[in-house]
Amino acid sequence: MRIIRTVAEMQQYSEEHRKAGRRVAVIPTMGYLHEGHASLIQQARKNADIAVTTLFVNKLQFGANEDFSRYPRDFVRDCTIAEEAGSDALFAPENGEMYTETFSTVITVRGISDKFEGAFRRGHFDGVATIVAKLFGAVRPHEAYFGQKDYQQTLVIRRMTADLNLGVNIIVCPTLREADGLAMSSRNVYLAPEERGKASVLHRALQTASLLVQSGEIRRQEINFSMLEVLRTVGELQIDYACAAQADTLEEPEVFEETEPIVFLIAARLGAARLIDNEVWQAVK
Ligand code: PAF
Repeated sequence: MRIIRTVAEMQQYSEEHRKAGRRVAVIPTMGYLHEGHASLIQQARKNADIAVTTLFVNKLQFGANEDFSRYPRDFVRDCTIAEEAGSDALFAPENGEMYTETFSTVITVRGISDKFEGAFRRGHFDGVATIVAKLFGAVRPHEAYFGQKDYQQTLVIRRMTADLNLGVNIIVCPTLREADGLAMSSRNVYLAPEERGKASVLHRALQTASLLVQSGEIRRQEINFSMLEVLRTVGELQIDYACAAQADTLEEPEVFEETEPIVFLIAARLGAARLIDNEVWQAVK
């Protein structure tokens, strides 16, 4: 696996493959890779000819009081996981390579960025949209792979890619889960051992909402309440939100259409960890 540190080298590497008629895929990550990332790389490698994993802890998407400085990092382990999953190259630039002294551009995706994660993490999606656009500019991929765990992020990136005519096919892959249902995340390392067992309550709440909608409930407040009831069984959990919304737009009607896809979104803090998870419910046609 080739390790690339500069944008110029990255563009040249990609250009050579594109000229040879190969399809280039990018898997953007902030490192501390886990099986979820590995599954994205494997999927990219199946669909495309060249898989480029990017590793960059993007300061721009962290709030002032967030975990940028303590975000888990392990470059050697990341290289092993990326290579074993089939990555052809790892693009791992330094901060100064991506954000030069004169850097002045920020991308804001209005609307879809404002609620849920955007409301709790002001400026977060500006940081995400800006770095993903920059990574697309560096890697010049045909397609890009993201995990469904960051559901709102995938909507923001789709909107930004379409609005800016970036011509990158966005592919969203299912969330990988631990045996008890906890969504895999680099941030799960923040969970203390006594908290780890309780963290699966998010998944149980999502399953409860799915079953309720499956049984015919389409009133938003009732669905939200069913999630809150489950989440409240873990007293230490501090719930930021537990909401049902239209899966495509994140609009929150009082009553959903019977056939429209609904996303259930949860964010909650447990000790030092902030957990997010979601599930999309779709009527069987
Ligand atoms: O999902 C992530 O890990 C990050 O938000 C991303 C897409 C790599 C941008 O920094």
